[in-house]
Amino acid sequence: MTLNFNTIAIAEQKVFNEHVFPLVLTYDCNKDMPSLDTLTNHFKTDRSSILHLLQQYKAILFRGYNCIKDGYDFDKVVTALNLNEMPYIGGAAVRTQITSKVFTANESPSTESIPFHHEMSQVPQPPTHLFFYCESPPTYGGQTPILISSIVYNAMLDKYPDFITKLETTGVKYVRTLPEYDDASSAIGRGWRSTYNVSTREDVERELDIMGSTYVWMNDADNSVKTTTKALPAIRKNEKSNERVFFNSCVAAYKGWNDSRNRGHKAVMHGDGAYLDPEIMGECAAFMDDISVAFTWCTGDVLLLDNRTTMHSRRPFEGSRRILASLARDPEN
Ligand code: FE2
Repeated sequence: MTLNFNTIAIAEQKVFNEHVFPLVLTYDCNKDMPSLDTLTNHFKTDRSSILHLLQQYKAILFRGYNCIKDGYDFDKVVTALNLNEMPYIGGAAVRTQITSKVFTANESPSTESIPFHHEMSQVPQPPTHLFFYCESPPTYGGQTPILISSIVYNAMLDKYPDFITKLETTGVKYVRTLPEYDDASSAIGRGWRSTYNVSTREDVERELDIMGSTYVWMNDADNSVKTTTKALPAIRKNEKSNERVFFNSCVAAYKGWNDSRNRGHKAVMHGDGAYLDPEIMGECAAFMDDISVAFTWCTGDVLLLDNRTTMHSRRPFEGSRRILASLARDPEN
């Protein structure tokens, strides 16, 4: 395979099943750093190789590309890979749109960590691909740790087979109370207007009906609505690798969906309505930390994740961290 990218090693990488995680690619150090146009051309010509590598390695970090200066340049890089654009509809985080396909990563307060999750696993059609771009790294912390979630599935199946069987057979439901307008003080403070891109109660009810969610209007000062999803799959089979994947936001919701309107331990339940076991959730979260990779962001980094096989999280930080994100769906999948 001839690539316009070279492989390099970084200290934080780990090895799973004889593959480094993440794969780290950069330009030929014997040549000058490519211009943005050259880089996007490399993405276009190497598209199928990059997607093939992503399938094998599950996460690719493109490092050293200071030619990507801002969200508009990042948009060009994402566009060059020619996947289907996907809006951020149904997600919980407060975000600012930069271009049609680029927005800020979760803007929740810097003191908060965001637990591991597959992006938008609480909606029926989650993105298959997820891009992050580091416009400005924090001065401390703020990593976006990543992990391979089939490893979580296998470990949990070994230790808690009944729990995994129940997840596989009944799925999970997510419960979230949304205010009308965004509440930037909360990691899950996205209001129902921006979550569903609507402006009236009738509109949001229609969107929830389409997704099969139920809802109750709280008639409070925030004009908030309590939503409960239908039972969604919590374990998925990756069609390309045949692996079973712990594809859900159980730990993220259980540990992280806390604010003035929500309580994490009541934010996720089995498909039959039973709450999740606190001990299992604690063990699962600790295991995820053990197998995760947390690299220090550098300006110009682009991280490409296969959202079907990897989870990500966010650590608290200091300084003016600016990480942008983009979602996509594989047109062939
Ligand atoms: Fe996320």
